[in-house]
Amino acid sequence: MQRAERLKSVASSNALELSGVSRVFGALVAVDNVTFSVTAGERRAILGSNGAGKTTLFNTITGDFPPSNGRIRFFGEDITELPPYERIRRGLRRTYQNSQLFRGLPVLDNLYLAVRGVGRRRMSLLRPGEDHPARIAARQLAHAIHLEEVADRPVSELSHGQQRQLEIGMALAGAPRFILFDEPAAGLSPAERRELVDILKALPSHIGFIIIEHDLAVALQVAETVTVMHQGRVFKHGLPADIETDPEVQKIYLGGRHG
Ligand SMILES: Nc1ncnc2c1ncn2[C@@H]1O[C@H](COP(=O)(O)OP(=O)(O)O)[C@@H](O)[C@H]1O
Ligand SMILES: [Mg+2]
Repeated sequence: MQRAERLKSVASSNALELSGVSRVFGALVAVDNVTFSVTAGERRAILGSNGAGKTTLFNTITGDFPPSNGRIRFFGEDITELPPYERIRRGLRRTYQNSQLFRGLPVLDNLYLAVRGVGRRRMSLLRPGEDHPARIAARQLAHAIHLEEVADRPVSELSHGQQRQLEIGMALAGAPRFILFDEPAAGLSPAERRELVDILKALPSHIGFIIIEHDLAVALQVAETVTVMHQGRVFKHGLPADIETDPEVQKIYLGGRHG
């Protein structure tokens, strides 16, 4: 990229810009020509029934499955061709629909490994003291995700809800600028959902995110804008209040099985 072009792109106030993003798997068009932007610090919900292409869209953004077509910009920089770790280095994070935790290790060690994993220095085999900056950062993360009291317990002893909270903590390690949450409320009890909403609402305001969510109540509480996907495409875009009462959205959204 030319220097002038790069400088121009740095001035962009969009955290994320997708233009004409598609992803095919053989003959299946899982994501079909999706174009939208999310401004820095914005919180967006993506709704859509099962198979709408939501997770695949996340995969194109993170680079897990790069797009077959189209471009993706992150804070103005074209990241379409970058490998996933380079996107993480730039402050992009995600959580997965299925748990990606070290189940045998305590909560704090999981967070510590996440902090070290995104840090610049190499991993040391020596266990660091409690005053090590990465251990302190891990404790702060445990506090942010309301898991201080179980910080020393192995992940396998946590409830499902606590494990999902921990996944959010892992995504918060380092200096995230934008996070993709893939159905963080799936399988949570009503009390756990309230906890999740509290945690998401308390995130620092400069951190924007996209949350894929089937629970409209959760999505509409944490999102400022909503994008509805249907059959790989953007079906509708709007404010939560408009989307909630939109008859077309209700029809496709309530029509499909969610999962
Ligand atoms: N790795 C893959 N290989 C083949 N097909 C896939 C793959 N990932 C997703 N798909 C297909 O793409 C479509 C969209 O899936 P997905 O993005 O997981 O939808 P959602 O997250 O909205 O439920 C589905 O038909 C799914 O079977
Ligand atoms: Mg999905």
